[in-house]
Parts: sequence; C-alpha cells; structure tokens
Amino acid sequence: ETVKWIKVGSYEEMSKIASSIFVKQLQNKSNSVLGFATGGSPVGFYKEIVKSYQEGKISFEEVTSFNLDEYVGIPSSSPASYATYMIENLFQHVDVPKESYHLPNGNAINLEEECLRYDKSIEAAGGIDLQLLGIGVNGHIAFNEPGIPFTSLTNIVDLAESTRIENARYFENLEDVPTQAITMGIQSIMNAKKIVLIAFGDKKVAAIERLYRGTITEDFPASQLLKHSNLTVIYGSEG
Ligand code: GLP
Repeated sequence: ETVKWIKVGSYEEMSKIASSIFVKQLQNKSNSVLGFATGGSPVGFYKEIVKSYQEGKISFEEVTSFNLDEYVGIPSSSPASYATYMIENLFQHVDVPKESYHLPNGNAINLEEECLRYDKSIEAAGGIDLQLLGIGVNGHIAFNEPGIPFTSLTNIVDLAESTRIENARYFENLEDVPTQAITMGIQSIMNAKKIVLIAFGDKKVAAIERLYRGTITEDFPASQLLKHSNLTVIYGSEG
C-alpha cells in the first residue's frame, strides 16, 4: 500500500508529469501494454505524449493498448465515441499499428460475450503494465459508478444521471447521451501493474480529498485503488 501523491499547480504540470511516467515506461520497455483513459482530464496528457513521439523519444510500434470503456449503442465512428476520441487525440498522430489498440466494442451483438472477450484479450497480452485513470466527480473510475462491486471485471453498466449530465457536453442533447456503457471493472483495473490517476480543477477537489481521507468503500469506487501496490495520484486545482 504505497500511494504516491503529487500535488501540481497547473493542468499543464499535471499533464507533463503524467506523460513523463509513460515516456519512461516506453523507454524501459518498448512493447509495454498501456491502459488508456478518455474524458477531459487526459487531453493535455495526450498532447504531451504526441510531442514526445514527434521528438523521437518514444515509438508505439511495439505497444499494445487497451482503453477503459466505451458507450453502448453509438457507432464507433460517432464524434462522441471513445474510439473517435482516441484516434483524434492519440492514435492518428503516432505510429501505432491498427491491430495493436483496443477499445471495448459497445456495439457487439452479444455484449456479455464482449465483456469476457475483453478481459481475456488483456490477459493474453500479458496484462496492463501502466494504466492511466481519471476520476469522476462521484468517485467513479472508468464507468464504474458508486455501488459496483470491487470484484467486478469488464461489464455493462447503467450510467448515473450525474455522469450523463457531465458528459452531455460531448453530445448535441442530453437525450443523445447513452444510458449504458461497457467498462473494465474495478478488478480489471486493479490488475494493472502500475496506475496513474490524474485529476485537476475545483470540480475534482472533493473527490481527491475523499480519496485522500482513505476510507475504502464501494460507494466511492476510486477508493479501492488505495489497495494497489503502485498508485500515483497527480492532482491539483486553481484555488
Ligand atoms: C468519464 C469517463 C472516465 C473519466 C471521467 C472523468 O465519464 N468514463 O474515464 O475519468 O468520466 O472525466 P473528465 O476527465 O472529463 O472529468
């Protein structure tokens, strides 16, 4: 149980520190298995990663990656899908082979089967070496909303209304936000060898403070991370 807390003064600083951890990982092991996250928090992180790639510091040729989650029921080509997010923020800018990056398929005909398949393919790749995470205002990680068992593997979840409202900015209307998602479970995330959690801004202060206080409860999904043997939390706010 060793959590490394890194307090930063700006979003840029957070993005740079997080990306430097991933750059180091790739420099030490070019065929790393990386776990990627979406949302507003990692946008600056991906910019830094792309910069490092362009400067010749890293390559994605031998990387395998797995994303945390995807909406159920919107086309993967939709501007709001996490597949599109990843292509726009990272994959189209680096030398990653198409077959090397993975997102759960929210349009699979058999979603239960897709969940099992996803965990199996992570395992077959040797497990995730380094996982990036954001945190929701309610303490959700990936799309694991409060109350989900810590033992959960990749699964189909109903999105909390607050999460749908929070993510409505990526859609035209609130009604367009899917009600379900496919997400790596808490246990799938805990299986990663190293985890980096990033959170910046006034909106995240309460969640980070709650995490820091250290009570481990399924009502606050991120709290299980405190049991991980290699967790780094990079956080800060304007105030
Ligand atoms: C989303 C994502 C999470 C993300 C979180 C916070 O719903 N599924 O992976 O960490 O909410 O998002 P943001 O970084 O935009 O605040």
